[in-house]
Amino acid sequence: MKTNSRQLIAGNWKMNGLVDSLSGFQTLVATLDKEEPPANVLLCPPVSLLATFASAGRGKVHLGGQDCHDAAKGAFTGDISAEMLKNAGATFVIIGHSERRQYHHEGNDLIAAKLKAAWRAGLHPILCIGETLAQREAGETLRVLSGQLDSVLDDKIAKDDLTIAYEPVWAIGTGKTPTNEEIEQTHSFIRTCLTKISAELAAKPVLYGGSVNPQNARGILALPHVGGALVGGASLKTVEFLEIIRSANVQ
Ligand code: PGA
Repeated sequence: MKTNSRQLIAGNWKMNGLVDSLSGFQTLVATLDKEEPPANVLLCPPVSLLATFASAGRGKVHLGGQDCHDAAKGAFTGDISAEMLKNAGATFVIIGHSERRQYHHEGNDLIAAKLKAAWRAGLHPILCIGETLAQREAGETLRVLSGQLDSVLDDKIAKDDLTIAYEPVWAIGTGKTPTNEEIEQTHSFIRTCLTKISAELAAKPVLYGGSVNPQNARGILALPHVGGALVGGASLKTVEFLEIIRSANVQ
C-alpha cells in the first residue's frame, strides 16, 4: 500500500557543522528553489546552527531539531526544549534516535514524554525505532519494533501528527543496509502495528534510515511501504543529499 503523501527526505547532521556550513545549506535551498523537488525536504542541523539557517532563508527546506527535553524550560543545564527549537525556526524534531537511546540511556518512558513535549510546542515529531544487531541475530526484530511502538504510543498519547522512522541500529553509519526485501517486509509490519493504533497514523509515510546514499536511495525509496528517508552521513554533503532528494518516488 502506498500512501498518498509526498515522500519526506530528512537530513540529520548529528554533531557536525560549523558556521561555515551555511554556504552548503544555501546551495541546497537555492538548488531546490530552482528544481521543484519531488519530495518534502527536512534538515536537522545542530542546535548551534538552527537559528542561523532559519534566518538565512530556508526556502522549501523545513528545519528540525535532533532531540528535545520533555520540559518547556527550567534548570536543565545543557538541554534544549521543544519550545526553544520552535522559537529558533524548527518545525520538526527527531525523538528517540538510537544514539540518544544508546549514549544517553533514553528509555521508552522518556521518549513518550519527549513526544508529548514536541506536540505541546507545535513541532512535528519523527520517532525513531530499530533493532540492534544482537536483537536481529536473535530473530527478535519484529518483537522489538512492536514493543518500541506500543510502549510509546498508547491510546492516550497517540497522535496523527507523527512520522515513524525505521532505523536498524546496525545499519547506522556502517555502510550496511538490510536488503530491499527486508526493508519492505519490516515497513509493512510497522504499518500493520500502526493500523492498530490509528488509521490516520498508518496512512503517514514511514521513513527508512541507515546508510542511505545516492547509490541505494532510488531502490529503497521505490519500495511500496517506504515513505521517505532519514539520512545521516550523506546529508552532510550537499551534492549527495540533493541526489537522494532527486531519487524520491513520485506517486
Ligand atoms: P547514516 O545515519 O545515514 O549515517 O547511517 C542515519 C541516522 O542515524 O539517522
